[in-house]
Amino acid sequence: MRLYIDSAVMPDIEEALASGYVYGVTSNPTLLRRADVRAAAVPDLVRHVFALGAKEMHVQTYADDAESIVREGQELAALDSRIVVKIPATAAGFKAASQLSGMGLRVTLTAVYTVQQAILANAVGAHYIAVYLGRMRDAGLDALDVVGRMQRTLDTCATNAPASGHPVEILAASVRTPEEVEALADIRVATATMPLNILRMLPESPATGVAAATFSEDAKALR
Ligand code: G3P
Repeated sequence: MRLYIDSAVMPDIEEALASGYVYGVTSNPTLLRRADVRAAAVPDLVRHVFALGAKEMHVQTYADDAESIVREGQELAALDSRIVVKIPATAAGFKAASQLSGMGLRVTLTAVYTVQQAILANAVGAHYIAVYLGRMRDAGLDALDVVGRMQRTLDTCATNAPASGHPVEILAASVRTPEEVEALADIRVATATMPLNILRMLPESPATGVAAATFSEDAKALR
């Protein structure tokens, strides 16, 4: 499973990328606003993130109409070849995604809540769909059931109706507990993004802590 940090806070990104188990970074206008990263500062953020070793960064467009989304997407993609252009899964977003994919750019459709939207993502040649696990739960949905059905549909699309030379990968977002990562892996979701506090919890196991403390004691006795 490929893991990402969902943040625009530089010290959080730095810690996550230094952990060794975080592949890349995802952001959106809400996270940028929270971190007070103005639009003009995004190119600097991108440079910094890749200098720290990120292998991929998903950066979102701001516009609402397809033409502007395409223009912004091209500008973002021009910053670095490892950027994936993130676009809300609206009608305008699908239209723009189709054009950007046609230009050979990688696209993530975000805020995807339904299987129909997953089907459209395959149709327009997107590389990822970002699905909001926690927010689905907030809305009273059985999030894992919905995401599981999306995964099965995308598997079928990849076999029977490939719209491009690559599968659409589910990028689980709005992940709020470490246990959700395990549940996502169980339904074959290959990528997930989460805040630093959840990433920090992933290596933790009380039994590992006890074992490590014992090894440490024994090692001291051997010196
Ligand atoms: O990437 C989506 C994420 O930022 C939303 O997370 O937990 O606020 O729903 P959350």
